[in-house]
Amino acid sequence: MAGELQGKVAIVTGGTSGIGKDTAVLFAKAGAKVVVAGRREAEGKETIELIRAAGGDGLFVKTDVARAAEVQALVKKTVEKYGRVDIAFNNAGIEGAASPITEQSEEDWDRTMGINLKGVWLCLKYEIQQMLKQGSGGAIVNMASVAGLLGAAGLATYCSSKHGVLGLTKSAALETASSGIRINAVCPAVIQTAMAERLFGAPEVEKHMLGMHPIGRFGRPMEIAEAVLWMCSERASFMTGQSLVMDGGFMAGPVM
Ligand SMILES: NC(=O)c1ccc[n+]([C@@H]2O[C@H](COP(=O)([O-])OP(=O)(O)OC[C@H]3O[C@@H](n4cnc5c(N)ncnc54)[C@H](OP(=O)(O)O)[C@@H]3O)[C@@H](O)[C@H]2O)c1
Repeated sequence: MAGELQGKVAIVTGGTSGIGKDTAVLFAKAGAKVVVAGRREAEGKETIELIRAAGGDGLFVKTDVARAAEVQALVKKTVEKYGRVDIAFNNAGIEGAASPITEQSEEDWDRTMGINLKGVWLCLKYEIQQMLKQGSGGAIVNMASVAGLLGAAGLATYCSSKHGVLGLTKSAALETASSGIRINAVCPAVIQTAMAERLFGAPEVEKHMLGMHPIGRFGRPMEIAEAVLWMCSERASFMTGQSLVMDGGFMAGPVM
């Protein structure tokens, strides 16, 4: 639905690749001015080029979401350039080391939780502050995962971070609902991105994982982007504190 984000300003973290990149471009096509955040500069600029090629307007701000000062600066630069923040997709994340808990390191726990959970908390903090200042509501979507709803042997830290994102989403939604700020989460199963390739790219693992998707394939980044666009649009105006599962049937039950 072209133009439904016309006049809106959106932040997309982790917009340098995968799901965030497609969402940033889709937001721009829907009329939003889009601020793309991530650590990789060349990839960030590439997303901005795609936005401009689609007739949109965007800005890349190099940001590590695990650092408070950088997230605060991201929101500040967005306001300096475009005057406000109406929409945010807090999507940046890493998979962390895949190993049993007994072999996981404290460093990996801190790094994964720092980006996936503290990063979302920091984004919420500064985005909500700005939205409250504006006084005209807003819409935020946090990236969780089906790993926020189920356990995953070998990915306990990742899983814990995504469970945490759902707790943050519900709590933040309760704090902001009366101010017209809607906060939801999205829970994808396996989506074809660099992260999925790293985790599930080996032929045996891929076959096993495909078998857990009754639809018979992995998801595409744009399929998640479409759901996020809807959650950030007026069409989802009564939705807050919820998570939307986008999983090709993964959560419906074991494939018999
Ligand atoms: N693919 C899946 O199967 C799947 C399923 C469920 C949920 N998810 C979630 O979807 C999100 C996006 O992942 P993806 O699949 O699109 O993988 P991806 O292509 O690897 O994208 C990850 C994004 O996160 C950014 N990022 C990582 N650490 C960051 C940091 N410290 N500060 C700022 N940005 C950071 C990366 O940018 P830089 O490297 O430039 O910083 C990149 O843009 C993640 O939160 C992931 O957990 C993915």
